Amino acid sequence: MKKKYHIDTLLVHAENDPDKNRRSTTMPIYQSTAFKYNSCKEISKVFNGEAPGNIYTRISNPTLEILEKKLAVLEDGLGSIVTASGMAAITATILTLAKNGDHIVAGNSIFGGTYAFFDKTIREFGIETTFVDPSDAKQFENVVKKNTKAIFIETIGNPKMDVPDIAAIAKIAKKHGVPLVVDSTITTPYLVRPKDLGANIVIHSTSKFINGHGNSIGGAIIDCGNFDWKDDKYGALSFLIKNRKAVFRDFGACLSPNAAFLTDIGLETLSLRMERHCSNALALAKFLVKHPKVKEVNFPGLVKNKFNAIAKKQFDGKFGSLLTFRLKDKKECFKVIDSLKLAYNLANLGDAKTLVIHPASTICVEFNDRERSNMGVTDDLIRVSVGIEYVDDIIGDFEQALDSI
Ligand SMILES: Cc1ncc(COP(=O)(O)O)c(C=O)c1O
Repeated sequence: MKKKYHIDTLLVHAENDPDKNRRSTTMPIYQSTAFKYNSCKEISKVFNGEAPGNIYTRISNPTLEILEKKLAVLEDGLGSIVTASGMAAITATILTLAKNGDHIVAGNSIFGGTYAFFDKTIREFGIETTFVDPSDAKQFENVVKKNTKAIFIETIGNPKMDVPDIAAIAKIAKKHGVPLVVDSTITTPYLVRPKDLGANIVIHSTSKFINGHGNSIGGAIIDCGNFDWKDDKYGALSFLIKNRKAVFRDFGACLSPNAAFLTDIGLETLSLRMERHCSNALALAKFLVKHPKVKEVNFPGLVKNKFNAIAKKQFDGKFGSLLTFRLKDKKECFKVIDSLKLAYNLANLGDAKTLVIHPASTICVEFNDRERSNMGVTDDLIRVSVGIEYVDDIIGDFEQALDSI
């Protein structure tokens, strides 16, 4: 299926097999905690890895396996693990790659939750992270050390809207024998397959565009199958097996089968939604850029944006649905957000609905001035995740809200 069909078809059909699932056309939900065996010999073989099988849903589950295989197909990967959240995917990945005394290099404009994970949480586990400007690939080269176990970047910084040159960073990672982990939450497999640019592991917060309807938290880890883990025991599957049999299992990072079902239903329409998300975002960005009360618009789709060329090249001519814009000050931002009638003021992105937030007073409130500046967060900034509503209604909503200041 992998090679034969376009992504639009794979989103609907990959790993969907009614013949195997009592003729069900949607993903069967195996809402079962554990799986029964008929003999002690049989169950012990599964425990010992001598026979395939599911034991307990915290480790694996047939519903989750369908979503894992589908995501692996979409990313052209070797295999995947779906997780309870995007943060669980990042945690399980990094703690599988690095241990006490090891080092990570990460972009300094990554999502705040991931930044805090590297900067605070795992520092206390003895794993040190050096943050660099991801839009300057050379900076990665300068800080890689002997004990560096991963390079971590996002395809588009959230909310800085900066776009790293993934292929250039992948080259540096390869030269040093360090796996490149790419969080592609904002772009999804519809805009880019990070493996094609040299990434080794892809991360998704499926809570966002992949699910697309804001109804369940989830995450995914995809091993692209292009990194030599130098492991005689498990070979190419080393990372996935070690992860599943240790950090993923022991940290209890599993996704619920019901959430997998909702995620899979959402995934079927990813291409349609992304097309609309991207065209609506471009239209709103063009409206905002001309508005006299708007100081600045950050959206890689704008021709004058400094990341326009690299984004265009990497993301198949599309630019995603996230943008930020600046007004005079925080007071104006609050007034505009409070005046919006259609857009929801909440801490999420990638929903079918248009969402807004004032990052400085909410999602980035715990960071100091230097960190906020690295993340592109200022008091006068509003982040918008542009939804799939009718474009003139979205623009009209922002127009009337801007009239309030
Ligand atoms: C780029 C990115 N990665 C990871 C995450 C974390 O995902 P989750 O909220 O599913 O844990 C988020 C959440 O906003 C995100 O924006």
